[in-house]
Amino acid sequence: MSVPEAIVHEHDVIVIGAGGAGLRAAIEASAGGAKVAVICKSLLGKAHTVMAEGGMAAAMGHVDDRDNWEVHFSDTMRGGGYLNNWVMAEHHAKEAPDRVRELEAWGAVFDRTKDGRILQRHFGGHRYQRLAHVGDRTGLEMIRTLQDHGVHQGLDVYMEMTVVALLTSGGRIAGVLGYDRERGRLRVWRAGAVILATGGIGKAYRITSNSWEYTGDGQALAYEAGAEIMDMEFIQFHPTGMVWPPSVRGLLVTEGVRGEGGALRNSEGRRFMWDDIPEAYKNQVALDEEEAWRYVCGDKSAQRPAELLTRDHVARCINREVKAGRGSPHGGVFLDIAWIKSRVPNGEEHIKKKLPSMYHQFMQLAGVDITKEAMEVGPTTHYCMGGVRVDGDTQMSSVPGLFAAGEVAAGLHGANRLGGNSLSDLVVFGKRAGEHAARWAKEHGAAPVDSAQVEAETARALAPFDRPNGENPYAIQSDLQDVMQRLVGMVRTKSELEEALGHLDSLRARAAKCGVSGHREYHPGWHTAIDLRNLLHVSEMITKSALLRPESRGGHFREDFPAKSEECTGFNLVARRADDGSMDIDRRQRAPIRPDLQAIIERMK
Ligand code: FUM
Repeated sequence: MSVPEAIVHEHDVIVIGAGGAGLRAAIEASAGGAKVAVICKSLLGKAHTVMAEGGMAAAMGHVDDRDNWEVHFSDTMRGGGYLNNWVMAEHHAKEAPDRVRELEAWGAVFDRTKDGRILQRHFGGHRYQRLAHVGDRTGLEMIRTLQDHGVHQGLDVYMEMTVVALLTSGGRIAGVLGYDRERGRLRVWRAGAVILATGGIGKAYRITSNSWEYTGDGQALAYEAGAEIMDMEFIQFHPTGMVWPPSVRGLLVTEGVRGEGGALRNSEGRRFMWDDIPEAYKNQVALDEEEAWRYVCGDKSAQRPAELLTRDHVARCINREVKAGRGSPHGGVFLDIAWIKSRVPNGEEHIKKKLPSMYHQFMQLAGVDITKEAMEVGPTTHYCMGGVRVDGDTQMSSVPGLFAAGEVAAGLHGANRLGGNSLSDLVVFGKRAGEHAARWAKEHGAAPVDSAQVEAETARALAPFDRPNGENPYAIQSDLQDVMQRLVGMVRTKSELEEALGHLDSLRARAAKCGVSGHREYHPGWHTAIDLRNLLHVSEMITKSALLRPESRGGHFREDFPAKSEECTGFNLVARRADDGSMDIDRRQRAPIRPDLQAIIERMK
């Protein structure tokens, strides 16, 4: 291969992304004997995984011995509206406890029960106390642990890199083209296998808990390489993001606050979550505040507070209160943890110990002392259940040699993810992807890199410099976020989705003419122009898929089709790039669930 100016690296396995899934995959691939490179957009240690605060779901049964993998499996399937890849849901429920113990063995310091076992807390949609946690900094501890462990495995880490294309040869993966953000130098990484672990798409929306890296890169790169992308209509709006001050709007307020007894109240002071209990949960919600508190304290005879119903439902109830004029001054509702001081000795210290990050976050960013006052919170774009369609055992996509794990992969969570199932997803499927990618690379070796592809992709990446007077890519990204927030948000209708598609067409036309000037070093405008390509792809997938699902389920709510449809349970929507470059989205019939797994679901009902 001769590509003028590109620096060429040779590895067996390339992992794109250094969050929980990427690091766990890299560790496993390296343990499998592969020479591994980790490429990340940001600095090592700054992964978005650190924002997953409340814990990692694993049926260890430390606090409630009624818990086991079967209950976790059926909670995950029910939470996902039964559209989950049941192979993945089974692996996840069975393997998560081992992944927690492994993290502990590698140095993670989890909170403890009185008898010294890993402590588990309540979270929405989980039947029993299931989230292993480190205060409200669980994701941070996971990254610290995996990073420490990984660097001793001899991984090659390339930080502050932007990947612009996946390289393919004869239909299989051959490597990666990217550039370093510091100097703008092009690089080619050759490899037998590539693992995408790039996270989500939150930056397609104006209000999001996601950090700046979450621009749908992995989903878009895979799509351009010919992979299938599934379930993109399902976007999770976390019920509790900060609403004030404006500079931090959308920042996550962990569900751990509600797990520790936090009450959602409207401007009238009422715990409004009790106003509307979904049929499926009628017998699983506490009858009153007293019973709810007993549940928080671990009383096994008590049912959960209504605040701990699934996120889609809680977010819609908050919306309802705000729309009805019963919201807080800045357009949210109140989340009150201070009230528990009347129930626990040394209440202020208890709150600070259980929720140290939340205490500091509100104190420093909003001037609110959560041990004394209620927080103001509202829904924020948090998670994309859709992503690269993968094999449930190996995590390989429909492009041979291309794997995906974590948020960028679809399947485990179906129509809606339960809180805490993300951290466990990362390590369960990061491990599987790493193992299978290393095996694949060993068996198949590296494919030749096509220099014509490298040249064409290089020209495409540098094209914005040819248009120094073109429109600023920031302006286009900002307009895109407004379109998605306004027309493809929590509540959708056919006419609004069609209107959004019209806007996306014109945004794409503007993006094709956007330009940047100056040199390539530290060029945020150039980086934004590349992000924009990805954001446009994922926004189109979300909007088109939302139009093609005439029902409401999990993270997809159609005001014009407010009920679940039996017929829609039978398929997933799969996006694929057509030969003419347009986006095809098809219904894909779901494989019937294995009878023994169906029997578990029936039994749990
Ligand atoms: O609320 C939270 O702490 C978020 C966790 C998650 O999304 O899994």
